[in-house]
Amino acid sequence: MSAKADIGLIGLAVMGQNLVLNMNDHGYAVAVHNRTTSKTTEFIGGPAAGRTIFGAETLEELVAELKSPRRVMLMVKAGEIVDAYIEKLTPLLEAGDIIIDGGNSHYPDTERRTRTLREKGIHYIGTGVSGGEEGARNGPSIMPGGEVKAWPSVKPIFQAIAAKAGDGTPCCDWVGDGGAGHYVKMVHNAIEYGDMQLITEAYQIMHEVLGMNHEEMADLFSTWDKGRLESYLIEITAEILRTKDEDGSPLVEKILDTAGQKGTGKWTVVDSAQLGIPVTLIAEAVYARALSARKEERVRAAAILGPGPGAAGSASRPVSAADREAILADLEAAVYAAKITSYAQGFMLFREAAREYGWTIDYGAVAGMWRGGCIIRSAFLSDITEAFEANPELENLLQAPVFSGIMLEAVGAWRRAVVRAVGAGIPVPAMSSALSFFEAYRSARLPANLLQAQRDYFGAHTYERVDRPRGEFFHTNWTGSGGSVTSGTYDA
Ligand code: 6PG
Repeated sequence: MSAKADIGLIGLAVMGQNLVLNMNDHGYAVAVHNRTTSKTTEFIGGPAAGRTIFGAETLEELVAELKSPRRVMLMVKAGEIVDAYIEKLTPLLEAGDIIIDGGNSHYPDTERRTRTLREKGIHYIGTGVSGGEEGARNGPSIMPGGEVKAWPSVKPIFQAIAAKAGDGTPCCDWVGDGGAGHYVKMVHNAIEYGDMQLITEAYQIMHEVLGMNHEEMADLFSTWDKGRLESYLIEITAEILRTKDEDGSPLVEKILDTAGQKGTGKWTVVDSAQLGIPVTLIAEAVYARALSARKEERVRAAAILGPGPGAAGSASRPVSAADREAILADLEAAVYAAKITSYAQGFMLFREAAREYGWTIDYGAVAGMWRGGCIIRSAFLSDITEAFEANPELENLLQAPVFSGIMLEAVGAWRRAVVRAVGAGIPVPAMSSALSFFEAYRSARLPANLLQAQRDYFGAHTYERVDRPRGEFFHTNWTGSGGSVTSGTYDA
């Protein structure tokens, strides 16, 4: 069998099939393999018919089809299956060959796999691929990391099939060493959770506080999609709200109010806690899904605790057209400001992760990769890229002139929007936690002085003083009965 394929792909589920077709559209011959052979046969005789796409029943056949250095991409479920394929592939490959994992793998797994395969001379790339079925077919956002030596060989294929931003730049570039690519994809997904949660909070306010119907809400989201909130998620929200069930009523209201999750949001929150970075909006978005999933318990709680007077449902009292306009303008500003805060938190996490895990990440380039193809694509990602280009050392996005002005202008509207929602009994965990973060982040002094005093009172944990240099620690014998022995000053 002569080597004729430019790349091999294992795993012909929806993402895998569409990536293969996309690669082939760009002139690459692809060899494919699936654990269940009938799926390969169906694909070769169906969507791949007449194309330079070759089916392989075994991994040996697949590898034999590949030009050197061999590039094999896995599009299989994250976890043990990836390790199992790596184990089977490794003896079939030679030094310099490349294995690429395009699933939503957890970044420590990618770190480990990159390291282990490096010892065997095999190059490993762990890459985020975002954009769902449509993105995979027509241009996803691709976030590769791992063994940088493999990048020149993979770059032409990935940059050809990736989405292109408005200025023609491919939404794919090298992210960094080891697990950096999968880390960036993990945070992408978590930011996606946050954006989605914010939209659902706005929807509940529109529907239950303002009594807007689905056409009105859809129109408003379409209007928002033409302004600074322009994004894929706002766009699809308008479409979802317009979609009717068979009986002509809005389909969205027929959908059970429980949201699933596959893990990337949770991993982000766990990692942020380890690194001490407050990604509060994302955390609330993850927990909002968790609470939504406890449907039966909520139904029981509603019977006991019920929504009180002025709460959602009873709150759709008439609001004048002028008031409604003002309330919606506040809401738009609140969603935008909270979204900026969420991205600022996400990039804080990147900075700390890069420091802790030894990666060099170009933050502007990451925002650039998200401008097209991915689920969180939106107009304002260009502003993030510009902010980091203007100042690569930028401490926090909220401090960038392009965002600080917007935040100061929006904060009044944001507070009003949160107060209105709270007054009406509408839960707004993402919108309100981001506001609290913003208020704390811009506070030169927080009430943590009292907190530290409490720690010293009950545990002799010591404190620093405002009138003495940092690094000098004091202890007070608050009760007169404690001694002067202090506990260690370590920080978790
Ligand atoms: C994407 C999506 C995709 C997916 C995840 C997140 O970037 O194309 O983020 O990776 O939808 O599975 O989803 P969960 O909501 O299932 O955790």
